[in-house]
Amino acid sequence: MTPRHFLSLLDFSSAELKQMLQRGIELKHWQKQGIPHEFLKNKVLGMIFEKSSTRTRVSFESAMTHCGGNSIFLSPRDSQLGRGESVPDMARVLSRMVDCVMIRTYQQGTLDTFAAHSQVPVINALTDQFHPCQLIADMQTFYEHRGSIQGKTVAWIGDGFNMCNSYINAARQYDFQLKIAAPKAQYPDPAIVESASSHVELSDDPQWAVQGAHLVVTDVWASMGHEEEQAKRRALFAPYQVNAELMAQAHADALFMHCLPAHRGEEVTAEVIDGVQSVVWDEAENRLHAQKALLEFLILSAQD
Ligand code: CP
Ligand code: NVA
Repeated sequence: MTPRHFLSLLDFSSAELKQMLQRGIELKHWQKQGIPHEFLKNKVLGMIFEKSSTRTRVSFESAMTHCGGNSIFLSPRDSQLGRGESVPDMARVLSRMVDCVMIRTYQQGTLDTFAAHSQVPVINALTDQFHPCQLIADMQTFYEHRGSIQGKTVAWIGDGFNMCNSYINAARQYDFQLKIAAPKAQYPDPAIVESASSHVELSDDPQWAVQGAHLVVTDVWASMGHEEEQAKRRALFAPYQVNAELMAQAHADALFMHCLPAHRGEEVTAEVIDGVQSVVWDEAENRLHAQKALLEFLILSAQD
């Protein structure tokens, strides 16, 4: 039996992603109505974190608990991973003990190696390349506020890093137009852009990117692993701040999203992130609901 994995948004078909989005909405409703959904009884999620996390850890742990299962948090500090046990060996052992593994790490290759040696589904909980769990929550959030994102325009403003790459994959899978504005030195991976060329346009001009956008998205200027470049990046990205003037050039109905954590006064002003167009708290909450649908799909539905 070869398990399905969720290493990027491209591991699922567009139809599967849309079906999972609807299931996330349903599970959110069930939770609010107090309808039990313990379909993961006795199932265990292993969670490997090589980088910090608030939302990802709490949403996955809560999701497993609400669904009747359990989770085990592992960091390099308190597992043998930090003492040099190989990734294939970790995968072989853990996947004999748990039903699914979630990994937050640096290289996408580490995740690929783990998945190649795992008997159970593996979920990308953020790498330097992608953050697909955030995207399923973002897509659910857009749908809840505005309906289908198909044919809409999304503006990505800022760093061409993991979140931007995931928006490029999302543009293909959910069929929207993505306008990316980033400093030329921080453009996203050309191969990823090329793979979605009919859905993606790229510029270093944030004013251009927000024209006609139904959704404006940004992220921190210095991601985890880029901390030493903080000062240099603050100067480089200064023209890319999402502020009220920039939002005013987007579609009148435009939403604002940010995966969080945010730095008010840097990539976004307080006026925007705490303003009426911002849906960041729904977006954060939807990590929980969207990931329940993901866990259900991987652990229960996609077993053969
Ligand atoms: N958005 C997100 O993944 O947040 P954490 O880093 O807190 O998990
Ligand atoms: N781009 C950010 C996302 C955090 C959820 C980072 O990698 O740090």
